[in-house]
Amino acid sequence: MNTKEFTTHADKEEFVQGVFSNIAKHYDLMNTVLSFGQDYFWRKFAVKQMDIGPYQRVLDVACGTCVFTKEALRQEPTLMVEALDFNREMLEQGHLRMEMAGLLDQVNLVQGDAMALPYEDNTFDSAMSGFAMRNVPDIEQVLREMQRVVKPGGKVVVLELAKPSMIGFKQIYHFYFTYILPIIGKLSKDNSSYAWLPESLRRYPHQSEILEIWKSLGYEAATYYELTGGIVAVHVGTVPDNI
Ligand SMILES: C[S@@+](CC[C@H](N)C(=O)[O-])C[C@H]1O[C@@H](n2cnc3c(N)ncnc32)[C@H](O)[C@@H]1O
Repeated sequence: MNTKEFTTHADKEEFVQGVFSNIAKHYDLMNTVLSFGQDYFWRKFAVKQMDIGPYQRVLDVACGTCVFTKEALRQEPTLMVEALDFNREMLEQGHLRMEMAGLLDQVNLVQGDAMALPYEDNTFDSAMSGFAMRNVPDIEQVLREMQRVVKPGGKVVVLELAKPSMIGFKQIYHFYFTYILPIIGKLSKDNSSYAWLPESLRRYPHQSEILEIWKSLGYEAATYYELTGGIVAVHVGTVPDNI
């Protein structure tokens, strides 16, 4: 895994599809276990940054099992959410969860690629994405697409693992990824999919570099918040008028 190189975008997308097809059924549980239950608070904070209002239309990019979608609907029950992901197995789990929560009337699940969103310009009031950017072939392209489909003045919010800067957290994080995560991978009998988690993070730019991408794309008031000592970062930006 450490030596895996992707030669084309399609190469990475095919690999990532395989990872999520393998873990779809256990994804929610593993998410909670791996984050020690913190992911709920991270999502809550991230959704708050979108300033969503009643009856708005929101896009959840790379929605997976719709955990982020569910949090948005918890905060604003009148929303209409478009939940897009390219992986069929993850979407099936998302559908199941939305059905069980009685939310299917407000969620439209769509199979599609974050790199080429199947929507007209200015379609949504805001857009969000959780834990997906490490997995896409080109972060800049996805952020450009999110900017394109959100109306001027709307918020784009991205929650993703980050590189902790706080002393202590950095060491704990290293220990966790080097020693604990491989054991969890072995227990789940899906070692290679779980090996992708630290590897994708290792390859992912520092949160301050990601911010530069947001600024270069023209997002207004682009900024980021580090949560839990910088284990995750929430990037936020406003779609400008003049694009
Ligand atoms: C770690 S999961 C995150 C799921 C969900 N957003 C959450 O917050 O739990 C990453 C998701 O990104 C999806 N994904 C990765 N690359 C994608 C792409 N190019 N287009 C659409 N979905 C993609 C995967 O299928 C997977 O469901």
